[in-house]
Amino acid sequence: MRCSWRPGGTPCKPQLEPVSADIAPLRAFVVAFGRLLDTHPDEDRIVRDGGALLRRLVSRDSWLPDAFAQADPEHYRQYLLHADSTERFSVVCFVWGPGQATPVHDHTVWGLVGMLRGAECSQGYAMRDGLLQAQGEPVRLDAGDVEAVSPTLGDVHRVRNAYDDRVSISIHVYGANIGAIARHTYPPGGGRKPFVSGYANALFPNLWDCSAELPNLT
Ligand SMILES: [Fe+2]
Repeated sequence: MRCSWRPGGTPCKPQLEPVSADIAPLRAFVVAFGRLLDTHPDEDRIVRDGGALLRRLVSRDSWLPDAFAQADPEHYRQYLLHADSTERFSVVCFVWGPGQATPVHDHTVWGLVGMLRGAECSQGYAMRDGLLQAQGEPVRLDAGDVEAVSPTLGDVHRVRNAYDDRVSISIHVYGANIGAIARHTYPPGGGRKPFVSGYANALFPNLWDCSAELPNLT
């Protein structure tokens, strides 16, 4: 179990509790996203139509179980909420403690980021004159906003919680099992380092107990 970008980082001990029927919007999202990918969309359509699905998901803040909203005092956490059975996509909840930030990193696949609670800031980077340098103004996401990253749209950035006094939470969708693929961080001194992020949780939210949503049979 890993909490940070660094292999061997601080172990996490998330508190698990029962999942309520409020999880239904997440189930509807993963079903709809799988159906979208069944049509073999190009990246533009994933960003447009997948982004619309994510925007709908983060427009409501009642479905995320508390067990997957717990911050770590030292490092942001990434909880895997769902992985497609053939690893076409994964849904990850990022929980940012006050002031927490990533290193500069890439993704190597398309990604959609939807802000559920609070706000985050993303600074893009690009190679110029052989050096990785900040590119453009930071992008701020507030609750309900969605943005995209990818090797074609811009894949290298650094993300931080926009707040120093509260937790922020964003929901990410990636075109792979993102915690299990080889990516890179870009240290300030230059060059890049390979890393595999892993996930903070060993257990998943149960999307599939629909019993509370069925009509009462008695
Ligand atoms: Fe990122």
